[in-house]
Amino acid sequence: MNNKYRKTVIAGNWKMNMLASGIKPYMEELKSFLPKTKSCETVICAPAVNIPTLMKLGKEAKIICGAEDVSEHDKGAFTGDISAAQLADIGVKYCIVGHSERREYYKESDFKVNAKIKQLLDKGISPIICVGESLEQREMNLTSAHINYQVRAALNGIDVNSLRKCVIAYEPIWAIGTGKTATAEQAEEVCRDIRAIIRDIYGARPARSVSILYGGSMNAKNAAELLAQPDIDGGLIGGASLKPADFATIIAATGAENE
Ligand code: 13P
Repeated sequence: MNNKYRKTVIAGNWKMNMLASGIKPYMEELKSFLPKTKSCETVICAPAVNIPTLMKLGKEAKIICGAEDVSEHDKGAFTGDISAAQLADIGVKYCIVGHSERREYYKESDFKVNAKIKQLLDKGISPIICVGESLEQREMNLTSAHINYQVRAALNGIDVNSLRKCVIAYEPIWAIGTGKTATAEQAEEVCRDIRAIIRDIYGARPARSVSILYGGSMNAKNAAELLAQPDIDGGLIGGASLKPADFATIIAATGAENE
């Protein structure tokens, strides 16, 4: 983390796990564990149907609401899709884009990911842009080439002012939901690489101010070590974000409780 130049973001990704009736007990428990003050932005990305309830019940805990996906289209006949304008309309501030689950199960291309990012930026929503390599790519020493491609494709056509609203999340696919976390060194190495790619495209200052998160089996035990790395500015947390005590411990691991 480097609080001097960029914000620390701890973002939960509830995926398809929460019922509306579960949000109240979740928030009550979270509030009882939260550190008194926090210097990180705490975001929860939830399915669209959960967002209004989350927004209401998360206010006291200063939870910022995020979505898990958005349409690449502006508006029109796209049954089932939700547009960036519709998310902005209800007060959504962040949205995950390019998660590996969507890339894999719904065959989302880099082109589509880029189009979704542009939709969000146009409506003032910060995209949390996910990139990450498969185990096969890591074992073939293709991590760096793959990340380089994904980051450049995602940011294609995005100007430096819009970049300031973007958050990047490095999520190695082999670490998601597997309990197999990247070591702090492995995670830092790729996050440092991502910053170097952004420096190459936009220059040193913008690169210094972009928040880069790590995601993939981050939990209450390993968060502090990962967050201590200079280029890891927070976490995108799946499983552990569904457990209020663990999520609060991760928030506290940003050092916020010492402030
Ligand atoms: P887990 O924390 O469950 O590994 O999930 C990570 C993730 O996919 C966050 O987007």
